Amino acid sequence: MDLKDIRLITFSPTHTSRQVGEAIARGTAIKQLFVTDLTVSAGVPLVVGRQTLTLITVPVYGGHVAPLAMKRLEGIRSEGGPVVLVVVYGNRAFEQALTELQAFATGCGFKVVAGAAFIGEHSYSSSRYPIAAGRPDAADLKEAEDFGWKVADRMSETGEGRAFPVINLEHIPQPLQSPSSMEKFVQGVMEMRKRQTSGGKSAVPIADESLCTRCGYCVEHCPTAAIVRGDECHTLSDRCIRCCACVKGCPQRARSFETPFAPLLSACFAEQKRNCMIIG
Ligand SMILES: Cc1cc2nc3c(=O)[nH]c(=O)nc-3n(C[C@H](O)[C@H](O)[C@H](O)COP(=O)(O)O)c2cc1C
Ligand code: SF4
Ligand code: SF4
Repeated sequence: MDLKDIRLITFSPTHTSRQVGEAIARGTAIKQLFVTDLTVSAGVPLVVGRQTLTLITVPVYGGHVAPLAMKRLEGIRSEGGPVVLVVVYGNRAFEQALTELQAFATGCGFKVVAGAAFIGEHSYSSSRYPIAAGRPDAADLKEAEDFGWKVADRMSETGEGRAFPVINLEHIPQPLQSPSSMEKFVQGVMEMRKRQTSGGKSAVPIADESLCTRCGYCVEHCPTAAIVRGDECHTLSDRCIRCCACVKGCPQRARSFETPFAPLLSACFAEQKRNCMIIG
């Protein structure tokens, strides 16, 4: 069937999900691209037609679709059009995220024609504790483009008025995972929890006042309005989702996020995983 256009719907505080989505969209070679970026606000409710190929790319938080992404997707509906679902994760694991997204998209009226789990630099990655640093790299983006091309090719084989080749994303091939790294990670998390004082607040990014120029980047890009103009060096901890958009985007490198997860993830998941894809 002829697809009229492609709509990329993304939530992407540190831009890796959006980058992967843009590369897949490029690969399809469908000329008309619309982008709905839900990172900073939910936007307006949207009904997608049958001749639009929708592409949803979102990050994995704690083995699930980032909760705020899921919430902001709630305004989207489809009239039975095809959708490609992609989760982007920081080289640990994507667990239930893709199947969760599949259940959601099916419930909204989409037909799932392909899915993928791509690796993106972990939100907590830093030069001291790199975790999938620099990903998606050029090879990942080329793989994303090829995937987009294959999806579009598969869709073009579907005759007008025929059903799309729907797929169950539970069958996606999983990346290889060394059992010892996962064991080391689980043990590390248990030790971290034991050390945590009960009732203690979890950390949020902090800013170095001597470096901050009050440029406002973090205020504009925070998905939850946890940073207020005029008080840029303070983070509202009850609003912050620890997405690290402010840390990675601050032009002065004034913001940092100290979390014990960073050294643990860096040590346990140094071995780079491969992207996984499946097409109906
Ligand atoms: C709160 C939080 C939880 C995360 N949980 C996971 C996880 O369970 N598994 C994983 O591999 N990466 C995890 N990550 C890393 C992100 O999935 C990864 O960095 C992704 O590329 C971020 O997408 P974005 O650049 O579109 O924001 C987590 C990141 C954050 C901020
Ligand atoms: S982005 Fe950095 S320099 Fe700009 S206001 Fe925020 S903390 Fe300050
Ligand atoms: S303050 Fe929190 S929610 Fe806002 S951008 Fe920074 S890490 Fe993300």
